[in-house]
Amino acid sequence: MSKVLIIGAGGVGGVVAHKCAQVPEVFSEIVLASRTLEKCERIRDQLPRPITVAQVDADHTPELVQLIRRVSPDLVIHVALPYQDLTIMDACLETGVDYLDTANYEPPDEARFCYKWQWDYQDRFRERGIMALLGCGFDPGVTNIFCAHALKHHFDTIHAIDIMDCNAGDHGHPFATNFNPEINIREVTARGKYFEDGRWIETEPLSVRQTFDFPEIGPREMYLMYHEELESLARNIPGVKRIRFWMTFSQEYLTHLRVLQNVGMTRIDPVQFEGCEIVPLQFLKALLPEPSSLGANYRGKTNIGCMIEGIKDDKPRSYYIYNVCDHADCYREVKAQAVSYTTGVPAMIGAMMMLTGRWRGQGVFNVEELDPDPFMEKLGQYGLPWTERFLT
Ligand SMILES: NC(=O)c1ccc[n+]([C@@H]2O[C@H](COP(=O)([O-])OP(=O)(O)OC[C@H]3O[C@@H](n4cnc5c(N)ncnc54)[C@H](OP(=O)(O)O)[C@@H]3O)[C@@H](O)[C@H]2O)c1
Repeated sequence: MSKVLIIGAGGVGGVVAHKCAQVPEVFSEIVLASRTLEKCERIRDQLPRPITVAQVDADHTPELVQLIRRVSPDLVIHVALPYQDLTIMDACLETGVDYLDTANYEPPDEARFCYKWQWDYQDRFRERGIMALLGCGFDPGVTNIFCAHALKHHFDTIHAIDIMDCNAGDHGHPFATNFNPEINIREVTARGKYFEDGRWIETEPLSVRQTFDFPEIGPREMYLMYHEELESLARNIPGVKRIRFWMTFSQEYLTHLRVLQNVGMTRIDPVQFEGCEIVPLQFLKALLPEPSSLGANYRGKTNIGCMIEGIKDDKPRSYYIYNVCDHADCYREVKAQAVSYTTGVPAMIGAMMMLTGRWRGQGVFNVEELDPDPFMEKLGQYGLPWTERFLT
């Protein structure tokens, strides 16, 4: 029996609220807060049981502290934007409440994300006797836990990890992003980067690609990108030599993105327009469909997983673990598309792990540092079944 405060009422926040509401024996009280109260109310009205809603601007720690003191939750689940990670962690420190998120901090004025800012809270969280769980969505999140599961059960040493994220769905819009447009476009237009032999190797954006035959989907071209779980896995998987992240994009998406970049619409620096200062990417976000609005007509599937190579009992082993998720099934269950669903379900399960004491600790943790077994057991039960294949 516990009370959670969910911050962020977008695509992912909606799924987290739905999934927590399905488990009253753990999440006996739910408060959903976000910048726009109406978005919280819309989600509240879809749920099978009552929850409380509140307005908060999570860019301001004092506002958050006031809200947390008023609500008195056992855990804050942060599914607003990465820009708010530090203000919310500060508020959790001040009030002594545990914290969970799905994306690592990035400063609004610089398209760069890394864990350092949040790892720097380690001593303060430990001294305060509270826990922060970072990156508990699908990727990062489940992909990290897949690696921890592989290491615990199937490998003596892991040498190489390829994380492969395929969305073969069709939402019917010429151009839309599956999670927050600003964060998505910043991520996709960044330089690629992967880890090899203890070094980070940079590549031009989307310049490295290969085709992979995704189960239940078929062959798709996927592009090498930098993604935040590479940073924590490089630190937490002992002996790993190479880690890469790949994502599929349709040609339609890539063509739109190239044009938007070429005309300056993805810029994140302010420009003067008729006496006002505007950030082109923020303006573009205002024009694009909201991720939470894409679900109704979305068809097709996602497949996200990890191809892992290494050694077991002195023999080379190659292993593939993945989840397939259907957009229309997600919409039927929680009124969301599969990208929001695959993020929101692991956030709920991570919260469950913390609140039921299966995952406990003092300080700041990435998910692969904790026991994968109880999480993997719940993953299929709550909507994200996984399949594993031994290739050699
Ligand atoms: N790990 C993963 O697998 C994974 C995958 C996808 C997404 N994510 C992460 O999940 C998060 C949410 O994504 P999404 O698709 O749900 O985005 P979204 O639909 O754009 O929703 C973001 C929500 O945050 C709210 N928000 C923004 N700034 C706020 C502030 N200052 N104070 C309070 N609320 C604020 C927004 O409110 P307004 O509507 O008022 O703007 C909106 O309700 C992002 O951090 C994203 O990076 C993680």
